Amino acid sequence: MKVSVKVPATSANLGPGFDCLGFALPIYNTITIEETVLPGTGIEINLISEEAPLDEKVFDNIPRDENNIVYKAVEMLYNSIGQEPSELKINIQSQIPITRGLGSSSAVIVGGLLAANKLLGSPADETALLSIATEVEGHPDNVAPAILGGFVLSSQDIDGTIVYRKLPWPQEWDITVCIPDFELSTNIARSVLPENVPMQDAIFNAKHLAMLVQAVYTKDEKLMKFALQDRLHQPYREKLVPGMKEIMEAFKHEDGVLGCVLSGAGPTMVVISHKYDLDKIKSTVKDIWEAQSIKVDVRNLKIEEQGAVILE
Ligand code: HSE
Repeated sequence: MKVSVKVPATSANLGPGFDCLGFALPIYNTITIEETVLPGTGIEINLISEEAPLDEKVFDNIPRDENNIVYKAVEMLYNSIGQEPSELKINIQSQIPITRGLGSSSAVIVGGLLAANKLLGSPADETALLSIATEVEGHPDNVAPAILGGFVLSSQDIDGTIVYRKLPWPQEWDITVCIPDFELSTNIARSVLPENVPMQDAIFNAKHLAMLVQAVYTKDEKLMKFALQDRLHQPYREKLVPGMKEIMEAFKHEDGVLGCVLSGAGPTMVVISHKYDLDKIKSTVKDIWEAQSIKVDVRNLKIEEQGAVILE
């Protein structure tokens, strides 16, 4: 038996929502899992990237054995019902750029879990799948919108349960995703964050995140522009993303631009705007990055309201 699952890309954090906010985007990975009948064949993991040769180097470094994150997630699911995975063939067809802050690892974890769950007769519900995916990924902000679609606020309770709610993203707010041609691993981007932060910065983010939630519910652009600020991760990551500061600065005082944030751990940048010239966003970002010899792929995208789907 063979099951395929199509999973959207995700952009996490959105400024003040570090490790708890994220939305799904219409770029997809498709994960297929096949239980092979021949015993002793072990696991086989095949990767096909539609982004190659851009991702060729990163692709070569992805483990193709039991250390692969998809296999790890699938193994945890099997173990949770007292089973061991049998002989598995895992195919990953990837459109989501890797190590760019667009949730490519969450997409394959979620895809693997949903496919394996279907193969097992659906023993795990959405909450259980989210808990396993979060355990493998480390935080719920990408995996939650990858499973659910839309714009999602998520947190993890002490017992591991994921608490999550969908928020209403105003459809008229445009999202411009600017993907530079260099990689930044989440591990490196997290390693520059401090163990502790000043109380004033914690309060700053709490206030801005609360304002952001109110802004999306009331479609309040002025409030959103105020809310899209962060002191917990972006200032520390600036040094890893050349041009980031200049790009944020360029849009700061533009009417119609609600904000410019790092997508997840970066280096992709996301610009939120309303009734603003999207070509101007593209040329501004291109000018800044190309002056530093960085090529950029700029895409105007709508939030993907559909989460992971099992393909029949
Ligand atoms: N919230 C995470 C981070 C997302 O910023 O490190 C990265 O996957």
